[in-house]
Amino acid sequence: MGAVIEGLGYSVPANVLTNKDMEKLVDTTDAWITERTGIKERRIAPKGTANSQITLGAAQKALSEANTQPMDLDGIIVATVTPDMTFPATACFLQDKLGAGKAFAFDMQAACTGYIYALTVADSLIKAGTVKKILICGSDMLSLLMDFQDRSTCVLFGDGAGAAVLGPGNDNEGIISSRIHSDGSLWELLYAPGGGTVHPICEETIKGRLQYIRMQGNETFKSAVTRLVEVSREVVEASGMEMDDVDLFIPHQANQRILNAVGKRLGLDDDRVYVNLSRYGNTSAASIPIAMAEAHEKGALKKGDIVLLSAFGAGLTWGAALVRF
Ligand code: ACO
Repeated sequence: MGAVIEGLGYSVPANVLTNKDMEKLVDTTDAWITERTGIKERRIAPKGTANSQITLGAAQKALSEANTQPMDLDGIIVATVTPDMTFPATACFLQDKLGAGKAFAFDMQAACTGYIYALTVADSLIKAGTVKKILICGSDMLSLLMDFQDRSTCVLFGDGAGAAVLGPGNDNEGIISSRIHSDGSLWELLYAPGGGTVHPICEETIKGRLQYIRMQGNETFKSAVTRLVEVSREVVEASGMEMDDVDLFIPHQANQRILNAVGKRLGLDDDRVYVNLSRYGNTSAASIPIAMAEAHEKGALKKGDIVLLSAFGAGLTWGAALVRF
């Protein structure tokens, strides 16, 4: 038995922050951001918006496309690093908002790779026969972690959510193979130190700006390219397929130059790589599910297509999945 994607949805805040707007906030230029990252604008949620509220929109669209009622869900997994609260899980708030009273609900924390982790766990539960229908969401509001005194990071990120309903299918359908990895020894490449047990919220934490993202951009860039290429090859080989069999590559949308380097090394032409980075920036765990749902909406992702999903993020974490859509 395989786990099949039955419905997709995405939701992004209406408020657009362009590079030109960014020029007024930090010492940067549209030209620098565009050339170094490929990003032109990002969406920013109004202050006080709950992550689960944005995720609700994506989840409802995915449920509707899957012709599934919330009460038919056995489980909800939300991949995020920006939960509604420290606890309970954002997935529990979402379960309540959806009225999915029979579903278990928990959050998954693997930063930008979170959606691939969630997909892998949901696939395993369905294949094991433990459950039938699972809603997986990738949703983040990294605008809350952006330090507007650090121009090298604050221009990169944005807010949004994407979702998918997974259900049981036949052997040759759905998720063909997936792999997830991590290397905790490299955590200092990308992290947000404040708000946990090491640096609990207090006056000093806030004064030291520890609540915000810190990143070693160049090293992160190099690791991202290496790991995305490795894990993409790994899932394609595990499936007994060739890179030529891939109809569409949907990578984590972090930086256009990373996507170009990865696409080139994998031998995937631009027309087989789906990119929406210029409009949303890096939305962390939401980037792949937003891109997938958008590609499907635009007709770029069709029934039966072989789709390669690959992500990389803080942890470090990385992972990939090969899916027959
Ligand atoms: N505007 C103008 N100048 C800037 C800006 C900015 N926004 N940011 C940095 N600069 C300057 C720097 O100060 C530096 O100036 P200097 O030469 O006078 O010292 C110069 O630009 C070059 O800085 P670098 O950091 O070397 O620039 P680089 O080409 O490496 O680009 C970037 C930086 C875009 C962050 C790049 O390293 C990158 O994209 N790394 C990967 C980041 C990433 O994708 N992270 C997320 C992946 S994992 C996840 O998604 C969570």
